[in-house]
Amino acid sequence: MTGSHAKLEVEGLVKAFPAAAGRERVVALEGVDLRLAAGEFVSIVGPSGCGKSTLFNILAGLVRPSSGEVLLGGRRPQELLGKVGYMPQKDLLMPWRSVLDNVTLGLEMNGVKRREARRRAKERIARFGLAGFERRWPTNLSGGMRQRAALLRTFLAGREIMLLDEPFGALDALTRQAMQEWLLEIWQADRKTILFITHDVEEAVYLSDRVYVMSGRPGRMQLCVDVPLPRPRTFAMIASPEFVELKARLLRPLHEAATRQLEAQGAHV
Ligand SMILES: Nc1ncnc2c1ncn2[C@@H]1O[C@H](COP(=O)(O)OP(=O)(O)OP(=O)(O)O)[C@@H](O)[C@H]1O
Ligand SMILES: [Mg+2]
Repeated sequence: MTGSHAKLEVEGLVKAFPAAAGRERVVALEGVDLRLAAGEFVSIVGPSGCGKSTLFNILAGLVRPSSGEVLLGGRRPQELLGKVGYMPQKDLLMPWRSVLDNVTLGLEMNGVKRREARRRAKERIARFGLAGFERRWPTNLSGGMRQRAALLRTFLAGREIMLLDEPFGALDALTRQAMQEWLLEIWQADRKTILFITHDVEEAVYLSDRVYVMSGRPGRMQLCVDVPLPRPRTFAMIASPEFVELKARLLRPLHEAATRQLEAQGAHV
């Protein structure tokens, strides 16, 4: 299905990493299809190693697919690099640069003058909860602050589509909940289109318009579920029957895959 209205469309994406010294050939992705409309918040959940980060690396133009298509606005771009905002799984803040110099890094690499980059960063730094921390080193920040700094760097790049790879994966449950609420506010105010990877089904339902479940490696889209919960989302919704039912539907294939994997590894009681 090719729709010119989709902001991002992925068709039959395959990625095989060739065998290298001491390493077997790995088929990471096997025919991934995906659609993202303008302004949507869509999440992907899937077992570890199923190719989620590989998919993002392809969409960001860092890795070439073996086959398949990536369309932006219904068209196949000559080059994907630089077309989307990308926050990789590791936040990659540079320990020798201050918070301010870290968040402006992407802009500077795009040729924006340092003074202008700083001006743009300072406009937003308060909304990202980093006011007063501009001169700190990344090692002196809490986990939540580090992630907000990495998110600010991604937002400042100014792309309409943003790929966020498990941005809250390393945070404790309470910080994570607060960050989810904050991210939804930022997303709604900025009208971005977000593709979000998480291991956490509850997080996926809470944030998203739609959730894709990937199979174990080689990764494919196994299930796609719409989340018809109203917005703005509230903390209280997590306990609603609709929320619990959606969570159970998404967890079922993941639970089956995890059980099969454990059995394949010979674990038993
Ligand atoms: N550059 C590479 N060369 C060879 N194999 C790779 C490369 N990058 C990823 N892989 C392999 O591809 C598979 C998918 O990796 P990927 O990091 O995309 O998984 P993931 O779903 O993001 O996992 P996690 O949930 O643990 O982050 C893994 O088996 C990984 O070892
Ligand atoms: Mg990953």
